Amino acid sequence: MAAKRAEDVNLIEAAKRVACQQALKDNFSSSFKYVGIGSGSTIAYVVETIAALGPEVSAHMKFVPTGAGSTKLIRDAGLTVLQVPDLLNEVGFTGPGTSKQHLDIYFDGADEVDAELNCIKGGGACLFQEKVVSRLSKKFICVADTRKKADRLLSKWAYIPVEVSPIAAELVRQELIELGSKDPIIRFAPTTNTFLLTDNHNYIIDAPFPTLLLNSQAELMDPAKGLWTPNALTAKIRGILGVLEVGIFSGLTGPQATAAGPEVEGVKP
Ligand code: 5RP
Repeated sequence: MAAKRAEDVNLIEAAKRVACQQALKDNFSSSFKYVGIGSGSTIAYVVETIAALGPEVSAHMKFVPTGAGSTKLIRDAGLTVLQVPDLLNEVGFTGPGTSKQHLDIYFDGADEVDAELNCIKGGGACLFQEKVVSRLSKKFICVADTRKKADRLLSKWAYIPVEVSPIAAELVRQELIELGSKDPIIRFAPTTNTFLLTDNHNYIIDAPFPTLLLNSQAELMDPAKGLWTPNALTAKIRGILGVLEVGIFSGLTGPQATAAGPEVEGVKP
């Protein structure tokens, strides 16, 4: 049984690596100057593959991380880290109405991706920084192996991560229940035996909701029956006092493309 599990793990890691290699093959260019790097286990293969291209390709590039883990990943690979505030100082503010999309591209993973490329992120608790980096990027490539693909959000993945101020966490939890979330919980960190703290010193509430509609199905929306579109539910949760950000990425913050890579034998979509 243990041997079987190890085999599954190897297949899943192979699927992630193939998806990352595909994402870079289709979307990476040596002309890039600023590249966003997301968080999670998949994105490690993006960094590994870029580093393997050698300094002649990457030495002039700066890599913008989405958290402490992502920063370490970039640094350990010998690539140059540029934090978001430093990026904004470097590019300057050129006036109202000018583009804020300073990054050439942003690669990140996801927990689930629907047929319209809306996705759920935040399994790694970095959703706020990820949303900031996605807003600063010309293009967001979501690297999601075949396990992550679903027709609609919350078909396979169970909950929406929501980053909240610790002082308001219980209040937010109650309001999420009023919106139709069944038993939202504050994420626990077993290693420290306390609630998990994000890089921003906040809590994450994992809020289960019924399967979402697509944004194109807005006419079917009926919150009383638990039928929400990703855009509408994001706006509603974001409006709760104490919420910093919601782990639904769609519209302006959602990916423009996904790279799933070929299906890997043995890894079930
Ligand atoms: C972190 C994220 C990750 O991209 C998401 O959880 C996927 O992680 P993994 O690649 O380990 O499956 O959103 O906040």
